[in-house]
Amino acid sequence: MAAGVRSLEWVGGRVRWLNTLKVPWEEEYVETSDYERLAVAIESMEIRGAPAIGVAAALGVALAASDFSGGLDELRSRLLRAIDRFSRTRPTAVNLFWALERMREVVSGEYANAEELRESVIKEALRIYEEDVKVNVAIGEVGSKLVEDGDTVLTHCNAGSLATAGYGTALGVIRSAWYSGKRVRVIATETRPMLQGARLTVWELVKEGIPVTLTSDSMVGYVMSKKLVDKVIVGADRILKSGHVINKIGTYTIAVLAHHHGIPFYSAAPTSTIDPVGRVEEVVIEERDPDEVRKVLGRLLITVPGVKVMNPAFDVTPPNLVSGIITEKGVATQPYEESIGRLLKL
Ligand code: MRU
Repeated sequence: MAAGVRSLEWVGGRVRWLNTLKVPWEEEYVETSDYERLAVAIESMEIRGAPAIGVAAALGVALAASDFSGGLDELRSRLLRAIDRFSRTRPTAVNLFWALERMREVVSGEYANAEELRESVIKEALRIYEEDVKVNVAIGEVGSKLVEDGDTVLTHCNAGSLATAGYGTALGVIRSAWYSGKRVRVIATETRPMLQGARLTVWELVKEGIPVTLTSDSMVGYVMSKKLVDKVIVGADRILKSGHVINKIGTYTIAVLAHHHGIPFYSAAPTSTIDPVGRVEEVVIEERDPDEVRKVLGRLLITVPGVKVMNPAFDVTPPNLVSGIITEKGVATQPYEESIGRLLKL
């Protein structure tokens, strides 16, 4: 079982990550002991993908603990400031808030001195990191049972090693099916405007020898009409108990097309991506810099300068279009209120 690249690591009091903005042209690893630098890496999408930003934020709080030499109360205040800073990096993926809540609980505990608090914070961040890889492998095992030998699976954006602490969610399912001996083929969508599919998913799969074909987002309908897709498997940034899947912009379009063509549409995500209380009207969809749309990756201007732009980073796929939600605890299916409630033991 290959786990894919380790895009994020804790190396003795520093965090090291692969700058995904540079992939596939360069493999640039960046290292810092400064939590503010890590927060900027999340905002700028050097580190991206729902589980990865949750893990990175937890490691960021650990950074804030590890390079501080003051007393207990000062350390606690500093950690709460770090938690607040990370909670303002990106608004949509629930894993970020889930990981920060775990860190906040540890920070709020009873400690005899600053050293005890520091150790507990670092331990919890590393636990979140390690759990993520294990959970992804479990998602892969659960989901690979849905993939048949010879299937062509279409995926959108990047829900692989580069979006998690390792292994991936949607790509974890594909990896698991592939390494269990199933001949799987992947169609990766380009994923405008940040091109996570073309740059990251293709890079990960080519590296591992898993067959992949790239298509642009606007070609999906045609590709499906030609019966070239057996299943769609995508990740998620937030899943509501109602079964609404919030994921990379363009996911909803693909789900509508899959429904029209009778193709099963799955979302693979850890249960930490499930928001059990949020309602669809309350979900904040991140609106990003208009230049991401006006230009190709900040380089080539492809329109009239200053044109008004819409750039929502995510969309909402309603539950009636979702055939199943693959988690480490099993597959939830309609009606989602019940099946997700069972998985989460609510
Ligand atoms: O804007 P991004 O690149 O952070 O968006 C990522 C996605 O939408 C992924 O599909 C999602 O986070 C799942 S990653 C396992």
